[in-house]
Amino acid sequence: MSSYRTHSNKRGIMAFDYMEQRRIMGNFATGVTIITTRHEEKLQGMTANAVASLSLNPPLVLVSVDNKAHMNNCLKGSKCFAINILTMEQKELSIRFAKHGPKDFSDIEYRTEATGSPIFDLALAYVDCQVTNILPGGDHDIFIGEIVAGGMQEGNPLVFYNGAYGSFCI
Ligand SMILES: Cc1cc2nc3c(=O)[nH]c(=O)nc-3n(C[C@H](O)[C@H](O)[C@H](O)COP(=O)(O)O)c2cc1C
Repeated sequence: MSSYRTHSNKRGIMAFDYMEQRRIMGNFATGVTIITTRHEEKLQGMTANAVASLSLNPPLVLVSVDNKAHMNNCLKGSKCFAINILTMEQKELSIRFAKHGPKDFSDIEYRTEATGSPIFDLALAYVDCQVTNILPGGDHDIFIGEIVAGGMQEGNPLVFYNGAYGSFCI
Protein backbone atom coordinates (compact mmCIF):
# COMPACT_ATOMS: atom_id res chain seq x y z
CA MET A 1 0.00 0.00 0.00
CA SER A 2 1.53 3.36 -1.00
CA SER A 3 0.09 6.47 0.61
CA TYR A 4 0.29 10.21 -0.01
CA ARG A 5 -0.69 13.30 1.94
CA THR A 6 -0.56 17.06 1.62
CA HIS A 7 2.61 18.76 2.85
CA SER A 8 2.97 22.12 4.53
CA ASN A 9 5.72 24.59 3.74
CA LYS A 10 6.44 28.17 4.93
CA ARG A 11 3.57 29.51 2.79
CA GLY A 12 0.98 27.06 4.16
CA ILE A 13 -0.54 23.74 3.15
CA MET A 14 0.05 22.64 -0.43
CA ALA A 15 -2.88 21.13 -2.32
CA PHE A 16 -2.98 17.35 -2.65
CA ASP A 17 -1.24 16.42 -5.89
CA TYR A 18 -3.86 16.09 -8.63
CA MET A 19 -1.97 13.30 -10.42
CA GLU A 20 -2.11 11.27 -7.21
CA GLN A 21 -5.83 12.02 -6.93
CA ARG A 22 -6.25 10.73 -10.49
CA ARG A 23 -4.24 7.59 -9.77
CA ILE A 24 -6.08 6.87 -6.51
CA MET A 25 -9.58 7.59 -7.85
CA GLY A 26 -8.74 5.56 -10.96
CA ASN A 27 -9.21 2.52 -8.72
CA PHE A 28 -12.90 3.34 -8.58
CA ALA A 29 -14.20 1.34 -11.56
CA THR A 30 -17.06 3.14 -13.30
CA GLY A 31 -19.35 2.74 -16.23
CA VAL A 32 -18.87 5.08 -19.18
CA THR A 33 -21.48 7.48 -20.53
CA ILE A 34 -21.84 10.02 -23.29
CA ILE A 35 -23.68 13.14 -22.16
CA THR A 36 -25.55 14.71 -25.07
CA THR A 37 -27.50 17.88 -25.63
CA ARG A 38 -28.84 20.08 -28.40
CA HIS A 39 -27.66 23.68 -28.14
CA GLU A 40 -28.51 26.39 -30.69
CA GLU A 41 -29.68 23.65 -33.09
CA LYS A 42 -26.31 21.84 -32.88
CA LEU A 43 -25.78 18.44 -31.29
CA GLN A 44 -23.03 18.18 -28.69
CA GLY A 45 -21.71 15.22 -26.70
CA MET A 46 -18.99 14.43 -24.20
CA THR A 47 -17.67 11.22 -22.65
CA ALA A 48 -18.22 11.31 -18.87
CA ASN A 49 -17.87 8.99 -15.91
CA ALA A 50 -18.34 11.57 -13.12
CA VAL A 51 -22.02 10.73 -13.19
CA ALA A 52 -24.29 9.61 -10.35
CA SER A 53 -27.85 8.95 -9.39
CA LEU A 54 -28.54 11.69 -6.80
CA SER A 55 -32.14 11.42 -5.57
CA LEU A 56 -35.16 9.17 -6.14
CA ASN A 57 -37.89 11.59 -5.03
CA PRO A 58 -37.57 13.85 -6.94
CA PRO A 59 -35.70 11.73 -9.54
CA LEU A 60 -32.35 13.50 -9.90
CA VAL A 61 -28.99 12.64 -11.45
CA LEU A 62 -25.78 14.64 -11.62
CA VAL A 63 -22.85 15.04 -13.95
CA SER A 64 -19.66 16.95 -13.18
CA VAL A 65 -18.35 18.88 -16.20
CA ASP A 66 -14.97 20.61 -16.55
CA ASN A 67 -15.20 24.42 -16.78
CA LYS A 68 -12.97 24.23 -19.87
CA ALA A 69 -15.12 21.68 -21.71
CA HIS A 70 -17.15 22.98 -24.63
CA MET A 71 -20.01 20.95 -23.13
CA ASN A 72 -20.09 23.16 -20.05
CA ASN A 73 -21.35 26.23 -21.95
CA CYS A 74 -23.65 24.10 -24.08
CA LEU A 75 -25.37 22.68 -20.98
CA LYS A 76 -25.73 26.15 -19.45
CA GLY A 77 -27.43 27.24 -22.67
CA SER A 78 -29.61 24.21 -23.42
CA LYS A 79 -30.57 23.43 -19.78
CA CYS A 80 -31.10 19.79 -20.69
CA PHE A 81 -29.06 16.64 -21.31
CA ALA A 82 -29.29 12.92 -21.86
CA ILE A 83 -26.99 10.40 -20.19
CA ASN A 84 -26.27 7.53 -22.62
CA ILE A 85 -24.76 4.58 -20.70
CA LEU A 86 -22.45 2.73 -23.09
CA THR A 87 -22.12 -0.95 -23.88
CA MET A 88 -18.80 -2.77 -24.21
CA GLU A 89 -19.17 -2.51 -28.01
CA GLN A 90 -19.13 1.33 -27.81
CA LYS A 91 -15.53 1.91 -26.74
CA GLU A 92 -14.69 3.69 -30.04
CA LEU A 93 -17.60 6.10 -29.48
CA SER A 94 -16.27 6.83 -25.99
CA ILE A 95 -12.83 7.65 -27.43
CA ARG A 96 -14.38 9.84 -30.15
CA PHE A 97 -16.49 11.82 -27.66
CA ALA A 98 -13.54 12.36 -25.32
CA LYS A 99 -11.90 14.71 -27.87
CA HIS A 100 -12.35 18.45 -27.39
CA GLY A 101 -14.63 20.27 -29.84
CA PRO A 102 -17.64 19.57 -32.07
CA LYS A 103 -18.56 15.89 -32.35
CA ASP A 104 -19.56 13.89 -35.44
CA PHE A 105 -23.00 12.30 -35.00
CA SER A 106 -23.40 11.40 -38.70
CA ASP A 107 -22.96 7.61 -38.31
CA ILE A 108 -24.83 7.30 -34.99
CA GLU A 109 -28.43 6.09 -34.87
CA TYR A 110 -30.22 8.24 -32.35
CA ARG A 111 -33.65 9.58 -31.52
CA THR A 112 -35.00 12.27 -29.24
CA GLU A 113 -37.61 11.98 -26.51
CA ALA A 114 -38.65 14.68 -24.03
CA THR A 115 -35.84 17.28 -24.16
CA GLY A 116 -34.44 16.99 -27.70
CA SER A 117 -31.10 15.62 -26.45
CA PRO A 118 -29.81 12.73 -28.62
CA ILE A 119 -30.49 9.25 -27.24
CA PHE A 120 -28.36 6.55 -28.85
CA ASP A 121 -30.41 3.58 -30.11
CA LEU A 122 -27.60 1.20 -29.06
CA ALA A 123 -27.00 2.64 -25.59
CA LEU A 124 -27.32 0.14 -22.73
CA ALA A 125 -29.57 2.60 -20.86
CA TYR A 126 -30.37 6.30 -20.85
CA VAL A 127 -32.03 9.08 -18.90
CA ASP A 128 -33.28 12.30 -20.49
CA CYS A 129 -33.11 15.27 -18.10
CA GLN A 130 -33.98 18.91 -17.54
CA VAL A 131 -31.28 20.84 -15.68
CA THR A 132 -32.67 21.99 -12.32
CA ASN A 133 -29.50 23.30 -10.68
CA ILE A 134 -25.84 24.09 -11.46
CA LEU A 135 -23.42 24.06 -8.53
CA PRO A 136 -19.76 25.13 -8.57
CA GLY A 137 -17.31 22.32 -7.83
CA GLY A 138 -13.74 23.64 -8.07
CA ASP A 139 -12.64 23.52 -11.70
CA HIS A 140 -15.85 21.65 -12.61
CA ASP A 141 -19.56 22.50 -12.43
CA ILE A 142 -22.09 19.99 -11.14
CA PHE A 143 -25.16 19.82 -13.36
CA ILE A 144 -28.19 18.38 -11.58
CA GLY A 145 -30.88 17.04 -13.87
CA GLU A 146 -34.43 15.90 -13.22
CA ILE A 147 -35.22 12.72 -15.15
CA VAL A 148 -38.14 13.16 -17.54
CA ALA A 149 -37.68 9.98 -19.60
CA GLY A 150 -35.49 6.90 -19.47
CA GLY A 151 -35.05 3.31 -20.57
CA MET A 152 -32.69 0.35 -20.90
CA GLN A 153 -32.05 -2.80 -22.90
CA GLU A 154 -30.04 -6.02 -22.65
CA GLY A 155 -26.26 -5.80 -22.99
CA ASN A 156 -22.94 -5.56 -21.16
CA PRO A 157 -21.51 -2.28 -19.85
CA LEU A 158 -18.31 -0.56 -20.92
CA VAL A 159 -16.08 -0.06 -17.85
CA PHE A 160 -13.29 2.44 -17.11
CA TYR A 161 -10.65 1.44 -14.54
CA ASN A 162 -7.12 2.72 -13.91
CA GLY A 163 -7.21 4.77 -17.11
CA ALA A 164 -8.16 1.82 -19.32
CA TYR A 165 -11.33 0.41 -20.84
CA GLY A 166 -12.68 -3.02 -19.97
CA SER A 167 -16.00 -4.79 -19.81
CA PHE A 168 -18.11 -6.59 -17.25
CA CYS A 169 -20.22 -9.65 -18.06
CA ILE A 170 -22.45 -11.64 -15.72
C1 LIG B 1 -13.57 7.64 -19.57
C2 LIG B 1 -13.63 9.14 -19.57
C3 LIG B 1 -14.43 9.80 -18.65
C4 LIG B 1 -14.51 11.21 -18.64
N1 LIG B 1 -15.31 11.81 -17.71
C5 LIG B 1 -15.44 13.16 -17.71
C6 LIG B 1 -16.32 13.79 -16.78
O1 LIG B 1 -17.03 13.15 -16.01
N2 LIG B 1 -16.39 15.15 -16.81
C7 LIG B 1 -15.65 15.90 -17.68
O2 LIG B 1 -15.76 17.13 -17.64
N3 LIG B 1 -14.81 15.31 -18.57
C8 LIG B 1 -14.70 13.97 -18.61
N4 LIG B 1 -13.89 13.35 -19.53
C9 LIG B 1 -13.12 14.20 -20.47
C10 LIG B 1 -13.99 14.74 -21.60
O3 LIG B 1 -14.64 13.68 -22.32
C11 LIG B 1 -13.11 15.54 -22.60
O4 LIG B 1 -12.53 16.61 -21.88
C12 LIG B 1 -13.82 16.08 -23.82
O5 LIG B 1 -12.81 16.50 -24.73
C13 LIG B 1 -14.70 17.26 -23.58
O6 LIG B 1 -15.23 17.65 -24.84
P1 LIG B 1 -15.72 19.13 -25.13
O7 LIG B 1 -14.65 20.07 -24.65
O8 LIG B 1 -15.90 19.18 -26.64
O9 LIG B 1 -17.02 19.31 -24.41
C14 LIG B 1 -13.78 11.96 -19.57
C15 LIG B 1 -12.96 11.29 -20.50
C16 LIG B 1 -12.90 9.91 -20.51
C17 LIG B 1 -12.04 9.21 -21.53
